Amino acid sequence: MNSSIEHIDDKARREFSRYGRTVVHRGELLRHPVYTRILHWSVAITFILSLLSGFAIYSPWLYRWLTPLFGGGAMTRFLHPWFGLAFNIFFFFQFLNWFAPMHWTNADSRWMRRLKAYATNRQKVESEDTGFFNGGQKIYFWAIVVSAILFLITGIPLWFDDVVPRWLVAVSYVLHDIAALVMLGGFILHIYEGTAAQPGTFRSMTDGTVTKEWAWTHHPAWYEEVTGRDAREDYEAARDEHEDARGE
Ligand code: HEM
Repeated sequence: MNSSIEHIDDKARREFSRYGRTVVHRGELLRHPVYTRILHWSVAITFILSLLSGFAIYSPWLYRWLTPLFGGGAMTRFLHPWFGLAFNIFFFFQFLNWFAPMHWTNADSRWMRRLKAYATNRQKVESEDTGFFNGGQKIYFWAIVVSAILFLITGIPLWFDDVVPRWLVAVSYVLHDIAALVMLGGFILHIYEGTAAQPGTFRSMTDGTVTKEWAWTHHPAWYEEVTGRDAREDYEAARDEHEDARGE
C-alpha cells in the first residue's frame, strides 16, 4: 500500500510543479513542493472557516460577532458542515502526501524525552538524529488525523440530527467539541512554532525553501540526507566564522 500511495503522490507533486514554481537559490534547500503548499493552505483555510463558523454556532456570545461574516445565523449553520467536509477532503490528501515522513521512529521517542529543553529553547541546535519532521510535528499531525476522523463520524449525526436518536446527537456534540478544543490548542502552538519561535520556518510554506543554516539547526538528519554533508561540522564552521567576524 505504501508504494502505491507514494506513486500517486509523486505523480501529483510532478503535475502541480508544472503550474507553480519553487525557486531554490544558492545556500537554500527545497523543503515543501507546490503540491504540499497548496494542500497545506487549503487545509488551513477550510480549518479556520470551520473553526469560526463552529464557534459561532457553539457560543451565543460569539454568535453575534461571527455569524455576520457568513451571512447570518442560518447560513452559518448551513455552511459549517460543508467547510468541515472540505477540510477533511484536503487533509485526506495531505495525509497521503505526508504518510511516509510522519512515521514514528526511535529518534522521535528520544526527541520527546528532550521536550523540556526544546520548549525552553535551551538547545541551540537540534540533536543530530532529528529528521525531516521532529517528534512534536509528528504528534501534531497524528492528532489532526484522529480529530479529523472524530469530526467526521460525530459531524454526520449532528448534520442529520432530525433522523438520528437523541442520545447519539448528545454524545456526538461532546466528542465534536472535545476534538475542536484539542485542534484549537494545537493550532495556536503550531502558528507560534511555524513563525515567531523559529524564524525562517514560515517561508518553507510560502516560497517552499529554507536556508541550509535553518536545516542544520532544526533538522540535522534531513540536512545530512539531502546534502551529504555533516550538520555538526557545518554548524561549527558557521559559528567560528561568526566569531571571527566579531573579532572574538
Ligand atoms: C494559519 C496559520 C498557519 C501557519 C502560519 C502554518 C505554518 C506552517 C509551516 C511554516 C509549516 C512547515 C513546518 C516545517 O517545514 O517544518 C507547517 C506545517 C504543517 N502544518 Fe501548518 N500552518 C498554519 C495552519 C495550519 C493548520 C490550520 C493546520 C491543520 C489543521 C496545519 C497543519 C500543518 C501540519 C500537519 C504540518 C506538518 C507538521 C508540522 O510542521 O507541525 N497548519 N505549517
